[in-house]
Amino acid sequence: MQAKQILVTGGAGYIGSHACLELLENGYDVIVIDNLCNSSFKSIKRVEKLSGKKISFIEENIQSKSGIKEVFNQNKIDAVIHFAGLKAVGESVIKPITYYQNNVAGTLNLLQIMQHNNVKNIVFSSSATVYGQPEILPIKEDFLTSATNPYGRSKLYIERMLKDMHSADSSWNISILRYFNPVGAHESGELGEDPNDIPNNLMPYISQVAAGKLPHLFVYGNDYATRDGTGIRDYIHVTDLVKGHLRALKRLEDKPGIITHNLGTGIGISVLEMVSAFEKESNQKIKLKIVERRPGDIAECFADPTKAEQELGWKAELNLEAMCKDTWRWQSKNPNGYS
Ligand code: NAD
Ligand code: WQD
Repeated sequence: MQAKQILVTGGAGYIGSHACLELLENGYDVIVIDNLCNSSFKSIKRVEKLSGKKISFIEENIQSKSGIKEVFNQNKIDAVIHFAGLKAVGESVIKPITYYQNNVAGTLNLLQIMQHNNVKNIVFSSSATVYGQPEILPIKEDFLTSATNPYGRSKLYIERMLKDMHSADSSWNISILRYFNPVGAHESGELGEDPNDIPNNLMPYISQVAAGKLPHLFVYGNDYATRDGTGIRDYIHVTDLVKGHLRALKRLEDKPGIITHNLGTGIGISVLEMVSAFEKESNQKIKLKIVERRPGDIAECFADPTKAEQELGWKAELNLEAMCKDTWRWQSKNPNGYS
């Protein structure tokens, strides 16, 4: 039987590159579309080396009508995993049009071309950010959604588009995956997160402080109503996260429809707990400065992952120790990321 062919948009990025490896290791053929606006082609080369298999890579923008049409004309695609998008919350506040254009209009273009080619299986990268300020924890998939910034709204609008599409045409098979806080790196130390600039997110920031690239971590507030006053999040290892995507693909085959799942561990970790776990695994001291709360941050956010366990047969397996150890291995082996 011929291997299933999966189109991975944003496949050169942090999560996408790990997903490509997981797909190849599980017998899928992989085509990647990425315009490399926040990634490097080297990640693709490393995935090929780790898997011993080839990826068909196309440097293209998902907003390009002719470019994406060509990809569908030239290939028999069974399903799309759609990671491509801009993801920096602060930047989205400054450049909302760029975010709506890239994320929403880009996705619309992709969906139109998928529909035209009768490719109606898609797994979409959504985010826990669509839960806004949750009033109850842990967060379940049927909670009200809202967003406080253009990035989050771009995810909500895409979710809405996907749901409307399925209402109009139930032959679409759609998996919406709401990630909590993806961290960690492939255990080989060959793939990982490579922020373009000074990192916005906690884990890459900590690892750059541990590596001596940044002088100290700014802890954004220690006066939240949490056990140590710092923000609590549900960090999930990227390896667990991408396994969830393969389960979602399988589920769409076995039971077509539209499904939404949280991908998280269900365990909340505070900033200070993350710092001390990282110090232990890296054997480095992380210097801290407690500063004001970051505008828009919430005190606490963690998933109820039960639905994914029941419906996808998926559960996060890797603990905080593995998240820190693997991040540190990636940081140490690649002090300048892919460059
Ligand atoms: P990333 O920036 O590493 O990967 C995104 C990839 O998409 C990059 O390789 C980038 O070059 C590519 N891309 C962006 N716009 C494109 C376009 N118009 N055409 C073609 N390629 C384009 O980010 P990531 O962390 O791997 O995130 C992947 C997806 O998961 C994103 O949609 C993001 O919003 C979502 N997500 C990420 C997180 C997180 O914390 N990392 C959390 C929740 C959801
Ligand atoms: C985690 C905790 C900070 C950096 C963001 C997006 C979300 C999703 C994941 C894409 C918070 C604290 C952080 C630092 C700190 N992305 N912190 N010093 O804010 O939960 O989520 O990334 O979808 O949409 O909003 O993640 O890693 O930025 O912060 O003290 O330098 O670490 O205040 O409590 P967040 P984060």
